[in-house]
Amino acid sequence: NKKMILDLDTGIDDAMAIAYALAAPDVDLIGIVATYGNVLTPDAGLNSLRILELLGRTDIPVFLGEEHSQTTDSFEVMPISAQIHGKNGIGEVQLPDPSRALEEKSGVDFIIEAAHEYNSNLILVPTGPLTNLALALRKDPEVATLIGNVTIMGGALTVPGNVSPVAEANINQDPHAANEVFRSKTNLTMVGLDVTLRTLLTKKETQLWRDLNTNAGSKFADIVDYYIDVYKITSPHLGGCALHDPLAVGIALDSSFSTAMDLNMFVDTTDEMWGRTIGDPARLNEKNPNVTVALNVDADFYLERFMKYLSSLFAK
Ligand code: BDR
Ligand code: CA
Repeated sequence: NKKMILDLDTGIDDAMAIAYALAAPDVDLIGIVATYGNVLTPDAGLNSLRILELLGRTDIPVFLGEEHSQTTDSFEVMPISAQIHGKNGIGEVQLPDPSRALEEKSGVDFIIEAAHEYNSNLILVPTGPLTNLALALRKDPEVATLIGNVTIMGGALTVPGNVSPVAEANINQDPHAANEVFRSKTNLTMVGLDVTLRTLLTKKETQLWRDLNTNAGSKFADIVDYYIDVYKITSPHLGGCALHDPLAVGIALDSSFSTAMDLNMFVDTTDEMWGRTIGDPARLNEKNPNVTVALNVDADFYLERFMKYLSSLFAK
């Protein structure tokens, strides 16, 4: 089986990414790294522990990553994030305090060590800012070519951003880190707003989780209903909530239901274009582009698989 590390700012859709990775038959989730974004890094770590406990997987270690970008000295949660995910990151649903602690080792070191242990068998899926991966690459540049594949949720190429006309939230938090990753030799797949805004979940689906009459099913339904309600206000035209982060896990494991274009990408860090993900003018004619950008998705196919996986996990 492939090995997977998730690097999460847990977050409602990050929580669904954990569930998807646990339910997928063809991969072992070997650890979760915490990052900042939807919540502060320590809270992302605690939320991941809570979600793992809810799903009965206290065997999976959770590591703390960086607390802010290298170009800032602190981080504050944006009001829009607190609105979308709730102040506690999981839709104001109260889950019990975790019965175990976070790991001592840093998330950055965990990524580096796992890259050496599993190399091409390792898939890394960051669904928050790319600070931890950029640091891992700086500390040990070999990581870029060791890791089999990095599939990020982040960026937007064919559609506008969601926190500015050009920037998607995860990239916006740390465009410098994202640019280091985009310009590295990493085998990178970008799952951005181009596709994540087309895979939507509604209360019709969360009701099916509720009908399972299990603790995991009803807690996940409560958490995700909060997110669906916010989307009704912030993005009423969509008709559901976007499955950003679990779609990145889905495409990382099987890209057959999405169409993509290989490009040499970079991330703009100028004031006017802060966080824009776009083709790299400096590398237009370079061969073997390193970023596979997902541009279309068979949403019905994905949603069916998503529901099959999560419902069977929550039924246990
Ligand atoms: C991304 O930003 C976060 O709020 C979500 O968890 C997702 O990773 C969407 O832009
Ligand atoms: Ca996220």
